[in-house]
Order: sequence, then structure tokens, then C-alpha cells
Amino acid sequence: MGTFLGGVDEIATGSLNLFFPVPSCERKARGVHDAPPSDRTERRFDGPYGRAYDAAVTSPVVRRGFDLVSGGTSTLANLDDLARRAYAAAPDEALLDIPCGAFASLELAKWVPRTGRVVGADLSAGMLRAAEARRVRLAPAYPVELVRADATKLPFDDDEFGAVLSINGLHCMPDAAAVLAEVARVLRPGGAFVLSTFVDVGGVLGRVAFRAYRWAGVLPVPPPSHAEFARMLDAAGFDVEERLSGRTLVALACRRRGTGGH
Ligand SMILES: C[S@@+](CC[C@H](N)C(=O)[O-])C[C@H]1O[C@@H](n2cnc3c(N)ncnc32)[C@H](O)[C@@H]1O
Repeated sequence: MGTFLGGVDEIATGSLNLFFPVPSCERKARGVHDAPPSDRTERRFDGPYGRAYDAAVTSPVVRRGFDLVSGGTSTLANLDDLARRAYAAAPDEALLDIPCGAFASLELAKWVPRTGRVVGADLSAGMLRAAEARRVRLAPAYPVELVRADATKLPFDDDEFGAVLSINGLHCMPDAAAVLAEVARVLRPGGAFVLSTFVDVGGVLGRVAFRAYRWAGVLPVPPPSHAEFARMLDAAGFDVEERLSGRTLVALACRRRGTGGH
């Protein structure tokens, strides 16, 4: 195994290879996708914004503050419940956190007992470095893997995961429908999909917030309306089991339609 030197080329490998570069022929043999070229959102999260976001999202005090100024929708305040719900959904099966960012969910759900592996995937090399630091700090809480990947082209097998978690990530991607289709592909039938995302930035406050996020390079496209988002989930093959919280930053517990062998 090699030593990780911090270069993006080395990090752009695949499962478990983030800090242990492998030759490209080996990568091809494993069918691991190279990460796509940088885009604005990736650069945004590679920099100080990504670190600031992670510090905020893992601080209960800051989350409660954001929650109050955004109308008390409680999605941010109860983000730990959201993460725990996904981690507990299929504890002996693999869980995917997409996009994992700096792996805030490891922090939020670290006391949930589970034996299945926890896989974090994200496009930002900077966020993945922070995720690796967190993995080391929290080790050996879970068997953790980190993968640099585009959420629309995940380097995983069909039905590989028993649960998928997506915190505040869909709205950072221009083609949320393609991401949902990919999540449905890698999640086994009957598997749990727990997510939070911006939907319908209605109202003056919502529109101002959307413009600010857009200007900051965090939101590439306007979030869908509630009805559009419901259609997108349905088209991807998800049933919404429970609306957990939120008016604009909604948290939902979904299940992939169909029955699996688990
Ligand atoms: C707001 S952060 C959320 C991260 C994490 N879920 C959390 O709550 O800490 C959004 C993340 O989406 C990632 N991202 C943006 N576009 C992506 C894509 N196409 N594929 C994978 N990750 C992407 C960014 O790098 C960033 O880490």
C-alpha cells in the first residue's frame, strides 16, 4: 500500500483507495469510476465553505440557531435523529451516505450499534480528506469506506446497500432526478432511503436564502416544488413512508419499492 500524499489524482480512485492509491489497471479491474472534472459546487466545498458547513452541521447550538432563523422547521435541529434513523435501518447491511461531505453523519450517529459497513461517497476531495480525519478520530466505531464519486455515476453494484442516507445534498446537484435513480439502483428493494433536502423555496425568506446560496455556488438550480419532488421520488421507485420534518428543508423517510431477499 502506498502513502497518501494529498493529490487529487490519488484520491480520485474508489472504494477504500482514498488513502492508498492503486495503479490505474487495478482500478479498471475493480470497475471503479474515475471522478469527473471539477465543477463549481465541488470547488466551493473543497474550500473554507465546506469546513464551515461541516462545523455548523455538527454543532447542536449552531443547528438550533439556523433552525430558529429559518422558521423552526426542526430539520436541522434534529439532524442527529435523521442520521441515526438511517444507521439503525439495516444495521447488519451496508449503508451508503451520499454525499457524505466530511462525514458529519459519523459524528451524528456514532452511538448507533451496527455491524454493516458504512460507505461515504462525495465528489469533493477536500471534504473527503476531512471525512478521513473524522473516520480516524472516531475509529473503530464502524467499518468505514470512503469513495470519491459523482452521485449520478456511483461505482457500486445494483442492490448493494440496505440503507442510504442523504443529508442536505440533493439540492447541491444539478440533476437530482438522476441522483435519485442512481440511489434506487444501488439500494436493494425494500431498503430505507432517509434524506433531507431543500424543496420549494417559497416565501420571501426562502427566495432570499436561495439567492444567497446560489450566489455562494452551493445551489446550482432552484429546488423543485413539493409536488415535483414527490413525482421525482415516485418515478425513481421510492415510497415516502414518513415526512419527518421541514417545510423548505424537508426530511423524509422513504423505502425503495419491491421486495428483496433480506
Ligand atoms: C451541503 S454538503 C452535505 C454533506 C453531508 N451530507 C453533510 O451534511 O455534512 C453537500 C455535498 O455535496 C457534494 N456534492 C456536490 N455535487 C456532488 C456530486 N455530483 N456527486 C457527489 N457529491 C457531490 C459536495 O462536495 C458536498 O460535500
